Amino acid sequence: MKNRRILVTSALPYANGSIHIGHLVEYLQTDIWARFQKMCGHECYYVCADDAHGTPIMLRAQQEGITPEELIAKTKQEHELDFADFHIEFDNYHSTHSEENRQFATSMFAELQKNGYISTRTVTDLFDPQEKVFLPDRFVRGTCPKCKSEDQYGDNCEVCGATYTPADLINPRSAISGAEPIQKENLHYFFQLSKMEKELKEWTQSEGLQPEISNKLQEWFTDGLQDWDISRDAPYFGFEIPDAPGKYFYVWLDAPIGYMASFKNLCDKRDDLNFDDFWKPDSEAELYHFVGKDIAYFHTLFWPATLMGSGWRKPTSVFCHGFLTVNGQKMSKSRGTFIKARTYLNHLQPEYLRYYFAAKLNDGVADIDLNLDDFQQRVNSDVVGKLVNIASRCAGFINKKFDGKVTDQVRVPNGEETFQAAADKSDAIKQCYEERKYSEAMRLIMAIADTANQVIDSNKPWERIKDESNRTEVHQVCSFGLNMFRILIGYLKPVMPTLAADAEKFLNTSISWQDLDYGQPLPEGHQINKFKPLITRIEQKAVDNMIEESKQDAAPQASDPVDAEIKIDDFAKLDLRVARIAKAEHVEGAEKLLQLTLDLGEPTGGVQRNVFAGIKSAYAPEELEGKLVVMVANLAPRKMRFGVSEGMVLAASGENEGLFVIHPDSGAKPGMRVK
Ligand code: 2FM
Ligand code: ZN
Repeated sequence: MKNRRILVTSALPYANGSIHIGHLVEYLQTDIWARFQKMCGHECYYVCADDAHGTPIMLRAQQEGITPEELIAKTKQEHELDFADFHIEFDNYHSTHSEENRQFATSMFAELQKNGYISTRTVTDLFDPQEKVFLPDRFVRGTCPKCKSEDQYGDNCEVCGATYTPADLINPRSAISGAEPIQKENLHYFFQLSKMEKELKEWTQSEGLQPEISNKLQEWFTDGLQDWDISRDAPYFGFEIPDAPGKYFYVWLDAPIGYMASFKNLCDKRDDLNFDDFWKPDSEAELYHFVGKDIAYFHTLFWPATLMGSGWRKPTSVFCHGFLTVNGQKMSKSRGTFIKARTYLNHLQPEYLRYYFAAKLNDGVADIDLNLDDFQQRVNSDVVGKLVNIASRCAGFINKKFDGKVTDQVRVPNGEETFQAAADKSDAIKQCYEERKYSEAMRLIMAIADTANQVIDSNKPWERIKDESNRTEVHQVCSFGLNMFRILIGYLKPVMPTLAADAEKFLNTSISWQDLDYGQPLPEGHQINKFKPLITRIEQKAVDNMIEESKQDAAPQASDPVDAEIKIDDFAKLDLRVARIAKAEHVEGAEKLLQLTLDLGEPTGGVQRNVFAGIKSAYAPEELEGKLVVMVANLAPRKMRFGVSEGMVLAASGENEGLFVIHPDSGAKPGMRVK
């Protein structure tokens, strides 16, 4: 077969959160596919990057008190470690906040502009009259128009899930100053997708898109292609649009360009790889994007339009998958089924999940379910009970009785036919992998394992070995078993690469798809190594512990491990003082806050501080007045929705165990230092 050149990508994860098992469906699906292509001898590259731009990342960095650059560097490191530990083997992992990406984004935008696809017009945006900045949706907070929950984002409600525009919020406030936003005319840049309708239609019809996606595209075309708003205003973390001060590329413009940037970054590290070979319009290389169905719109319309309009190639295809449910329901923090990649790894081996997802995945966009009982049962039965069992039943006899040497004579009853039938499945299994019908591939492979076990069962080497005259037959049936095991491991190599690597060591041979196509048993006298258990069963306890840890992940607890160590100098920066609560009042419209007037007494020159403290759930104002508390006196003032808070009162809290303000023992005086 012709040697193919293939570039594969997975969606770029946002740089403001951890990888969880929902994400892993896609990374494992892609990794299996890329490993399969490589194993077939094709030239295949799998690249990815962190999606580092946008308002949520900027907000998250603010919350953590670090710069966006620090946040994205920290997250990238965490992501890369999680991926590596799941044996997801990228050829390159980059960031959209990179020089390569800036260059592609700006040059492609310039090209789109030159080719007449970009227009500008003014729209009405919300504006912070105090800070004099336009407010992105996430910078406006207010009461949800549907369920009336307070303090919700301008685009959706975290309590009831409703989506709306900031104008719909009740009592909208700027998240920056707390001021009420006003409406103001603002210039935006638009990508006129409708100008490319003909080319886009051609692309979507000519390529092998999944039927569900093609149908969806038809609906979008019928509804008419709208102009795409691709600019956002400062403050924004992203790339500033050249010659448009204060205007930035919307994160979704430069995110997919990150695929190119990551590949360019790889090409620059290697002499043998040429960027244009893969991206020029006449390229013969194949380009595939694996994505979730929720972002199909971006990848099947906006992205090909961006590429075509700026003179680059189009994707060969976009492969969409469904979402993950756990035990039949949406992943849930309180049920402990919102499982982070790291939490999973703390309890279970990656190969289990790789196999289970493979056993569930196919080429459609339907959601897949991780039923934890089924997961345990299926992996234990298929991988341990059927597959590894073949090797563990046969290896001992070969090692002990036959000097670790196999025979190529597998003339036990049904041995040769069974071996041949297994080898003959090579093409069918290959096709399943190629078409992403992994569940069908796993079914075919486990059916082969069943046939191998049947032959071993009916030849009973463990009984026959008792009679020395059966020696040849025992040698043959055990060699048959190991040859079958070798084929099975070869077929499963893209799914369980570390199990396969350990099995190859044990069998003392490597396995490529060419070997599998060739279908020959190991040569006469081939020496194997000592057998060590290749994988253990999934224990119920491990699954339970993982769920328990996920529940704890979701809720910061008093029992959390102690934070990272600090130096005495760091502690010394805190100016902790005893203060008397001079006044405590309710705050109109605030669910959690009380407004405290704190008296710092003589030593500070009679200073008074206004502090908003989130202690309303535990205290009535009247029970606080006159009490002594401990406060952080040198905390920079913070603008809150209801006013400026000038410090912080210390209190102990646990998840569901209430809230307890810290009071010094009697005798302490306002203004005293707390050390
Ligand atoms: O939906 C997401 O998680 C996005 N970060 C995916 C981006 S994929 C590509 F376009 F960059
Ligand atoms: Zn709501």
